[in-house]
Amino acid sequence: MPDLGLSGQVAVVTGASSGLGQACALTLGLAGAAVVVNHLPRSADAAAEVVTRIEDGGGRALAVAADISREDEVEALFARAVDRFGTVHILVNNAGVQDGTRFQDMSLTQWQRVLDINLTGQFLCARAAVREFLRRGMQPELSCALGKIICMSSVHQIIPWAFETNYAASKGGVMLLMQSLAQELAPNRIRVNAVAPGAIRTPINRPAWETPQALKALLELIPYGRIGEPADVAQAVAWLASDLSDYMIGTTLFIDGGMALYPSFRGHG
Ligand code: NAI
Ligand code: BGC
Repeated sequence: MPDLGLSGQVAVVTGASSGLGQACALTLGLAGAAVVVNHLPRSADAAAEVVTRIEDGGGRALAVAADISREDEVEALFARAVDRFGTVHILVNNAGVQDGTRFQDMSLTQWQRVLDINLTGQFLCARAAVREFLRRGMQPELSCALGKIICMSSVHQIIPWAFETNYAASKGGVMLLMQSLAQELAPNRIRVNAVAPGAIRTPINRPAWETPQALKALLELIPYGRIGEPADVAQAVAWLASDLSDYMIGTTLFIDGGMALYPSFRGHG
């Protein structure tokens, strides 16, 4: 990987004990950033392993348990980050869940849980990060920007998704949260962008890739002909966190092998 100039910067990655969050934490850590590896209490062992891998590669990392849908826990997460590493320069707003069902069977609890984690969680973490960026002030020797926020969205910020209405609504919300925040904060030199992955091989969508039949059906939706891997997303996130993308504000990078290009229209319509 090229030198992204992240040494001396501090990144908070939410939901970093598995999947895309883990890959982002490792990539940022090995690129020189100090990384706060956020996780749920039940994933402490996996988070500790991420920390060890970063430290073994010569980096700095700290595991912090916090439910990012809870205001008090998000405040405590950022306080720990500042206490240990002095400040925060990068937020990867990654943690998210799926909990879909037929719409007529969806409980309010199910609806609210997904919105609370996927959308309100991103609001709470972004707000804490922005407050810390503004408190700290510019450090031109480290970055052209006061701070960088990368929101983990999904192709489902634009592709409707039957039986996953709460999830699709949350990612549609992430899109306009990200864009509105980017518009509001660009004058403060805070860059807010998103990545919209397609199908990436992680625990969240295991049923979609773990059998040959499921994988074959999934690949029908991916013109590039392969499932995504976490590193495909993490490399783009690290680039968005670096000054190499300094003029990018309010953009969503689709990392999806062409999934958002309506592949079923190829030769039809
Ligand atoms: P994953 O299930 O491995 O990761 C989700 C992580 O979020 C887990 O580590 C989980 O413990 C954590 N988490 C859940 N609730 C939390 C909470 N309240 N507080 C803190 N952490 C919490 O799955 P994956 O794929 O890595 O998901 C990460 C993000 O990527 C999610 O936002 C998901 O919507 C998004 N995404 C995933 C895609 C895929 O195909 N894998 C595609 C598009 C988006
Ligand atoms: C979902 C995955 C799904 C992918 C493509 C993601 O947002 O979390 O389960 O495979 O979109 O549909």
